[in-house]
Formats: sequence, structure tokens, C-alpha cells
Amino acid sequence: MEKHEYTDDYQDKTLYIPGPTEVRDDVLEAMSQPMFGHRMDQMTDLYTTIVEDTKTFLETDNDIIILTASGTEFWETSTLNLVDEHMLCTTCGSFGERHANVADRLGKNVDRLEYEWGNAVKPADVREALESSTVEYDVVTCVMNESSTGVRNPIEEIGDVVAEYPDTYFVVDAVSCLGGDYIDIEKHNIDVIFTSSQKAFAMPPGLAICAVSDDAYERELENDSASWYGGFQRCLDYYDRKGQTHSTPAIPVMLAYRKQMKYMLEEGHDTRDQRHREMAEYTRSWAREHFEMFPEDGYESRTVACIENTQDIDVAATIDAVSEKYDMAFSNGYGSTLGETTFRIGHMGEHDIESIKMLTDAIEDVANL
Ligand SMILES: Cc1ncc(COP(=O)(O)O)c(C=O)c1O
Repeated sequence: MEKHEYTDDYQDKTLYIPGPTEVRDDVLEAMSQPMFGHRMDQMTDLYTTIVEDTKTFLETDNDIIILTASGTEFWETSTLNLVDEHMLCTTCGSFGERHANVADRLGKNVDRLEYEWGNAVKPADVREALESSTVEYDVVTCVMNESSTGVRNPIEEIGDVVAEYPDTYFVVDAVSCLGGDYIDIEKHNIDVIFTSSQKAFAMPPGLAICAVSDDAYERELENDSASWYGGFQRCLDYYDRKGQTHSTPAIPVMLAYRKQMKYMLEEGHDTRDQRHREMAEYTRSWAREHFEMFPEDGYESRTVACIENTQDIDVAATIDAVSEKYDMAFSNGYGSTLGETTFRIGHMGEHDIESIKMLTDAIEDVANL
């Protein structure tokens, strides 16, 4: 690839893509502070504040790790930390498949419970896979919100099934929904659940957030091949002893995190969930008026609408025209399979129905709907 010189004069676009999403101005400004050292008391104040506030927001007693990484890190880390040999990966789209692929590459024996794209993972099938298996799975994985297809999997019921297998850990990729879609982590036996800062938390990218159960922490202690950088033990013991991270974190993003998490606490997990449901309902009913929804009925995401292009509009041209005329960015469908046959609207983070309506009005105008 040739160099494309970065300049200082790009036009701002309002982001309706499935992340990164819009970040409040004062949250962005929080990053412009003089640097301080990651072993100073100021760092202990910052890191303990964001960790404890996140626990409060998620209403969990599980331990929280906030790592300088993107969410992808926790596919690798959770596999290294928890899996000796066998794992069951449920897949219904690109991200679930990528999680399984990471585990393949780490040399684990991966069985897949696969669904056609657009369909959701069914708890009864997970039960059947666990009951009929001749091996004991160390981990079952599931993506809570499959961003490539806009499917929201029934994580709660799947967690209840995995709970019947006490030696099997339940790992949930909630990257494109946590913070915008309520989940009771402990009630549904979720040992590991993670997200990235740039999605429904509405922060700049650069941090990955993970809640770890006591059982998962204990399990990692027995595992020789556990991750160094993302080792639960290393991260959490460092927190317990020093209230800091084991290596130098992205301090500016943590400053933004602190500011935004206060807004999230003010709004509350439940109310934020309700606002996201309303945005999802609005987007769905708009989509059904003009197109169709791509996901199986009843399993539509609360943060990313994947809309089937039943009118055969030119998706790429519509995205360009909306960007040009309205300075708004939304997404085409995922990859070569869904690229033109679907398109996606990220209704997450700090958006509300009014701001989503501005986008749908713009699409109507440009595509002559
Ligand atoms: C469901 C899901 N999992 C994982 C990822 C990877 O996250 P990141 O790009 O923060 O590593 C994404 C990114 O969009 C995602 O949507």
C-alpha cells in the first residue's frame, strides 16, 4: 500500500456505523491533559475509579480488567487462560467464526455449532451438543450481538444451559452491545464477558473491558499456557496489590473513560438499555416500512440493525451520497456475502431516536424511498 498522507482537514461525519460510535465532546477533551506516570498515585486514582465505576455500572461483583487493547485480545486471552483441549464455539456470523478461528490457531480442539448467517444460536441445540459430546468442553463461546448479521443471541438462556456443566466455562463476546443491552452477568453464569471501549460505551477506541468470574480466575491458576499480557491472574493481582495495570496503559483513553463512565452511571444500566431498545424498535419499524430486517424474527440486535436490501438500492452509492450531503456515515453489509444485499445502522452509545431519525430521513432522501 502506498502512503496516503494524513491531513488536518477531514470533514467530521456523524457515526452510525457499528463502532466506533459518537463520543461526547467533553469526553474527547478529557484526553488532552498533561501526561503522568503509570506508577504515580494519580494513576492508581484513575484506574481504581474506572474499574470500580464499571463494576457498579454493570452491577457485578465479578472482577473487571480494563486492558490497553481492542476487544479481539479477549478472544485470544480467554482461550489461552481457560482451555486445555476442547471448546465448543457457537457461530452464526463472522465474529463468532473469528473467535473459533483464533482458537484453531492456538491449537485447541474446536467443535463448532454453526448456524446460517441471520439465524440465532438456540439454547436447546447447545444443550444437545453438550449432552451428546464424547469430550468435556473447557469452554463454550457465544457472541451476544453478532455485528455482521445484526443478531442478538439469547445469551441468558444459553448461560443457564452451560450452568448445568460446572467444569465448562461460558465466554461471551459482547463487543458490540455491552453497555447498551442489559445483561445480568452472574445470574446467567457468564464466566468471561468482554467489550471494546468504542462501541456502546461510546468512548474512543483503545481499551478492552472484561468481567471475569472467580471460577474463571481460579481455573486460570491451573493453566500453564495462560496468556501473559491478558492473564487474568497477572492483571487482577496487580490491581489488588497496586490498583494499577501491569504495563503502561493508554492513559488518555482512560481519562476519557472516566468521564464517560460517570455519564453512564448517571443514566444507569437499565435506562441505557431502555433507550437502546427504543432506538432499535424505531429503526426496525422504519426498515420494515421500506425494506426487511435480515435477522431471524425475534432475535434482532438492540444496537446494530442489519437491514435486507429488498429494494435493491445501490448501497455503496447511497452511503457515499449520505456522507457527501449530510456528513453522516452508516455501513454496508458485512464482507463480500452481505455487502450489497444488506446495510447496517449502528444505534448505540449516545445516539437517541431523534438522531437515528436524522439518518433515516437522509437515507430516504438520497435513495428516493
Ligand atoms: C462482535 C464483535 N466481536 C469482536 C470484535 C472485534 O473488536 P475490536 O475491533 O475492538 O477488536 C468486533 C468488532 O467490530 C465485534 O463486532
